[in-house]
Amino acid sequence: MAKGKTCYACSACGYESPRWVGRCPSCGAWNTLEEAISAVPEKGPAKLAANQRPGTGASAMRLQDVPEDTTLRFPTGIQELDRVLGGGVVEGGLILIGGDPGIGKSTLLLQVCANLARQGRKVLYISGEESARQIKLRARRLEIEEPGLYVLAENALDAVEQKLRELQPDVAVVDSIQTMYRPEMASAPGSVSQIREGTSLLMRLCKETGISVFLVGHVTKDGAIAGPRLLEHMVDVVLYFEGDRQQDYRLLRAVKNRFGSVNELGVFRMTGKGMQEVPNPSEELLSHRARGASGSAVFCGLEGSRPLLCDVQALTSPTFFGTPRRTVNGADAGRVALLLAVLEKRAGQRSYNQDVYINVAGGLELSEPAADLALCVAVASSLKDQPVAPEVAVMGEVGLAGEIRAVPQCERRVAECARLGFTTVVAPRASVRPLKAPEGVRLIGVDTVMQALSVLF
Ligand code: TYD
Ligand code: MG
Repeated sequence: MAKGKTCYACSACGYESPRWVGRCPSCGAWNTLEEAISAVPEKGPAKLAANQRPGTGASAMRLQDVPEDTTLRFPTGIQELDRVLGGGVVEGGLILIGGDPGIGKSTLLLQVCANLARQGRKVLYISGEESARQIKLRARRLEIEEPGLYVLAENALDAVEQKLRELQPDVAVVDSIQTMYRPEMASAPGSVSQIREGTSLLMRLCKETGISVFLVGHVTKDGAIAGPRLLEHMVDVVLYFEGDRQQDYRLLRAVKNRFGSVNELGVFRMTGKGMQEVPNPSEELLSHRARGASGSAVFCGLEGSRPLLCDVQALTSPTFFGTPRRTVNGADAGRVALLLAVLEKRAGQRSYNQDVYINVAGGLELSEPAADLALCVAVASSLKDQPVAPEVAVMGEVGLAGEIRAVPQCERRVAECARLGFTTVVAPRASVRPLKAPEGVRLIGVDTVMQALSVLF
């Protein structure tokens, strides 16, 4: 029996309508109306006049008088996660971890729970997807046997709330938001209204009780956490867990953090015994490099404040019929097309009759324009069938005239190259001019792609 009034809400703009229509009258989007409940009635006195409503009872105070608290944050002990969180878990924070199913969210969070329990905190792991025994099995595989770790298999929101209030843990995990539901709402678990209801309930609970909650959210096929962007503005921190399921690297990225900076990156590896931290990702990413092969260039990217060296690979082979193929893995295909045109027009590197395959090793995704030069060099190296010397790293943004533009934070990148034993760094002249080269590293400033190619080959 439905307690609240059923209505239909647009998942794109939030417009509410008493009956379902195919097209949202407010924003014009098609097929976005979903069943929702306009209001779940309170248990207390039915309706109060506006001036009688209690609210939270808080009164406004001067910002100066708000007490400062510095002990509110506690580290999880998993450094790659702490970095992304900005130093650790904040008391009463709601942290959303999104990612494809099977990427390792439950595994990582169970490890986090064990770590926190080991520090003497009370931790509750609530799963709507697995039974307590299945969690136990996973825990055994991860060699977790902490006495302070409680598990609960439950997916009714009210029961979850009650158990959280009873047990009063320091930290809780809710795995996953898509499985949590209110039975009195007519829509199915995982629908926009259920997700919205569940998240707002957890948010209230976090702030009220000071329990920090990790919330798992599966990502739908189009890349958004179900309920388009709905959750992101409701929670304090949004982390995305990404990586190829075929490869064992997992990248944890912060896209929103009310308590720290965003765009930080944590690197893990999925092993037989759960997630393992990768404190030195550059070394790992380069460890399988084919030295002395043509079509490869090393680039130093930046993920947040973290420099990351990666191997950019290109392979060109003659097209036998039809249009040449361009297959790009780990970079933007449009950008690669642009760079091929620049190479052709400005540096005489012809690829119109060549199939071009681009791959960024390790499953990384290059989104910075600073990677342009490395892509150009890799393609040119394959076209010429001449390898780039193995101790050379390249970086720079390439413009349509073939000019090389400055890259941000060049010093940091150069330092990382030096740390990993690269002795020559080819970078934009504007970026290297103010820099002092680290010991044993030769910095070569270049102005055009043509110049870079003549330095390298
Ligand atoms: P899981 O954490 O269940 O993913 P999610 O919660 O994001 O859906 O991870 C499932 C995958 O991880 C599964 O394919 C098995 C693999 N796995 C390992 O490789 N090692 C392990 O120690 C564990 C527990 C899982
Ligand atoms: Mg899971």
